[in-house]
Amino acid sequence: MSELSELMGSTGVELYRRAKALMPGGTQLLTKRPEMFAPDVWPSYYSKAKGCRVWDLDDREFIDMSIMGVGACIIGYADDEIDAAVTEAIGRGVMSSLNCPEEVELAEALIELHPWFDMVRYARSGGEAMGLAVRVARAHTKRDVVLFSGYHGWNDWYLAANLADGDGLDGQLLPGLEPNGVPRGLAGTAIPFHVNDIESLRETIKGKEREIAAIIIEPARGEEAPDEYLKTLRDIATEIGAVLLFDEITSGYRMCAGGIHRRYGVHPDMAVFAKSMANGYSMAAVVGTEQVMQAAQTTFISSTNWTDRIGPAAALATLAKYQRCNAADHLIDSGEQVKQIWRDSAAASGMEISISGLPTLPGFAFEHGKALELNTRFTIEMLIRGFLGFRQFKPSLAHGQAELDAYKAAADDVFSQLAGLSDADLLETPVAHSGFHRLTKE
Ligand SMILES: Cc1ncc(COP(=O)(O)O)c(C=O)c1O
Repeated sequence: MSELSELMGSTGVELYRRAKALMPGGTQLLTKRPEMFAPDVWPSYYSKAKGCRVWDLDDREFIDMSIMGVGACIIGYADDEIDAAVTEAIGRGVMSSLNCPEEVELAEALIELHPWFDMVRYARSGGEAMGLAVRVARAHTKRDVVLFSGYHGWNDWYLAANLADGDGLDGQLLPGLEPNGVPRGLAGTAIPFHVNDIESLRETIKGKEREIAAIIIEPARGEEAPDEYLKTLRDIATEIGAVLLFDEITSGYRMCAGGIHRRYGVHPDMAVFAKSMANGYSMAAVVGTEQVMQAAQTTFISSTNWTDRIGPAAALATLAKYQRCNAADHLIDSGEQVKQIWRDSAAASGMEISISGLPTLPGFAFEHGKALELNTRFTIEMLIRGFLGFRQFKPSLAHGQAELDAYKAAADDVFSQLAGLSDADLLETPVAHSGFHRLTKE
């Protein structure tokens, strides 16, 4: 157990104060901002991570029952087998004037998993891979407009949605995204729609059939894809000659190796992978049919660091371990167990919560007027008990039964403590942010 005062006085909390003066926004990724968890308390920085454990800068140990490297580390932190493959790649040189053969081996492995695809291009992060895929889709169709639902990264093509309609993206995972710096000429080139709202999608398409380059979705995330949804989108895309693009950056590798769309039997024209495909090493892939992917040669898509050896070596080792250990079954079971823990602990305490998400991407929400304060206090109480705890949990192969049992005991304790607090006593520290906010330096 740590004291709240120790957590608030940690080296990480102090370092983050300096970071905010040096880096606009404090971190490189919104989701890693301490403000998203528990401002002035969240440890912010790690000295070491191994398995499902993380050590802060003061060597305090936490079991990570939160976002596990923003969903990237499905096998676990610093996995010996994957790190051995990477270390070997480093030993043989990660960059040279020639290409690394692993990129061909990985392309073959991705196509073997998804035999409806023929060709692959690589990038090193999800957002840039999505930018690459959208460029290829536009080049292939010679059209400009993309229709999308879900979150797809920081690129101009995506934020352009908020030029035409200032809060167009608000229903798409992250509210409050500003399109400042995105050329106003892009207004109207990216149009959001809501999951399973086929009627409004058809309405949007009407009269624009020959302008639409792509329909872009996450095949599943908050829940399983609704019945017939993916097939209907497949039919619409085919009907209007648009590329159907599945963003599998978060959904990929969670319910099965490769794309979650393998489980639905609907074949898009392209799919994009990043995050978990290399267990946290930088790697991203755009996989597609030859017909669409060849358009990459009609435009300029090229980058030095897309040729490094670490990414493909890590991706191959991740896939090998994932398949050998049947990681999907473990992730599903761990996620289901955590859902049950939340359900039981909340019910025992009398707290009302709702639980959602795929088994491998579960989350809960307090059904309470002070939900944000409760989220923040939940995280603080979990930190005190030695857990990085959050309203979401991303399981990994490294989460064993002992960790889940320990988490259950902590959750029972924390929920019952929260139930006993009056609104006035909920929080002494600042409340967590729920979306994008501009940060001030101090
Ligand atoms: C579905 C989806 N698309 C795109 C991205 C952006 O990927 P990255 O953060 O690697 O740029 C994310 C990241 O969370 C994502 O979940």
